[in-house]
Amino acid sequence: MRKILVTGGLGFIGSHTVVELLNSNYEVIIIDNLSNTSIDVIEGIEKITNKKPEFIKLDLKEKNQVLDFFKKHKFELSGVIHFAAYKAVGESIEDPLKYYENNLYSLINILTSIKYLDLKINFIFSSSCTVYGQSKSLPITESEPTVSAESPYGNTKQVCEEIIKDFTRTYANLNVVSLRYFNPIGAHPSSIIGELPLGKPQNLIPFITQTAIGLYPELIVFGEDYNTKDGTCVRDYIDVVDLAKAHIASLEYLQNNDCETNYEIYNVGTGIGHSVLEVIKCFEQVNDIKINFSIGAKRSGDVEIAYADTLKANNRLKWKSKISLKDSLRNAWKWEKHIRIN
Ligand code: UD1
Repeated sequence: MRKILVTGGLGFIGSHTVVELLNSNYEVIIIDNLSNTSIDVIEGIEKITNKKPEFIKLDLKEKNQVLDFFKKHKFELSGVIHFAAYKAVGESIEDPLKYYENNLYSLINILTSIKYLDLKINFIFSSSCTVYGQSKSLPITESEPTVSAESPYGNTKQVCEEIIKDFTRTYANLNVVSLRYFNPIGAHPSSIIGELPLGKPQNLIPFITQTAIGLYPELIVFGEDYNTKDGTCVRDYIDVVDLAKAHIASLEYLQNNDCETNYEIYNVGTGIGHSVLEVIKCFEQVNDIKINFSIGAKRSGDVEIAYADTLKANNRLKWKSKISLKDSLRNAWKWEKHIRIN
């Protein structure tokens, strides 16, 4: 009983997590609707691990298909890692219903199937530090109150956490860890899988690598008069392989019945804050390349400083980030060059 369902398993964080699961001898079934990734990612996973995960193309909004899936696999599944969700902040503001429909129904359909079939199962939810907004205290602990979300995307993460929390109150057979990711970056060191943003990237690292490769003439740094060490925003950049391993640690934690309650929340970050200018400088230094950038206006909705208190995850999940910002930025650049050449 070590078979794990990974929804959104061909996405950026999902694919890296599937690799770590297979490397830890779990069997994996991936569900993905391929709306924001490519089927080729499966080959990449196979190349890295020499193992073949099962793949099912399925839209989790389709309630009956989700139930059919669980009926078919109910005896073999021991856990679900739920990544499948839309994640573009700007798009969620343009088309909020698309985000609420996809992100909420997918989760509800999975939970409904679990309840209908009376499954005893471990569940890991992919949440975000966006739920904290601008936290009053730093580093941010899990007990920090959540604030009203800045975007429908952020709100779907909050509402999904609430749905799961309410459901676990009445359904004791579901054991949940909700992981609040800080800023996931990097790529697999093999350069075989990595982030594939569609269109103009919104996040800092893909924008840096795509500027470095020449797809954009310059990077705009959003604001320089924040109350931080150099005036630019500070974030906690966590390598995607470290992040993937946090999911394995969470599964082991749930399997060992170490949890105190059946709904627990953990921050996943490095505990270190870096400013935008520090990230640019670090990227330039480790990759020996200049980034053309200028300072622009602040981006609305950006918080000034966010970095994690990771003690809870360190102590209880026995997980700690290991990969340095330098190595993450090296891997991100190697990946960018790899996808443009191939
Ligand atoms: C964003 C999302 C957040 C999501 C997270 C992970 C917003 C407001 N928040 O976080 O909900 O969970 O991604 O995907 O979008 N920056 C620049 N120039 C750029 C791009 C970014 O200066 O071209 C700066 C930003 O102002 C920020 C930092 O780089 O200070 C990181 O930005 P980004 O990678 O978009 O992540 P977040 O905004 O922290």
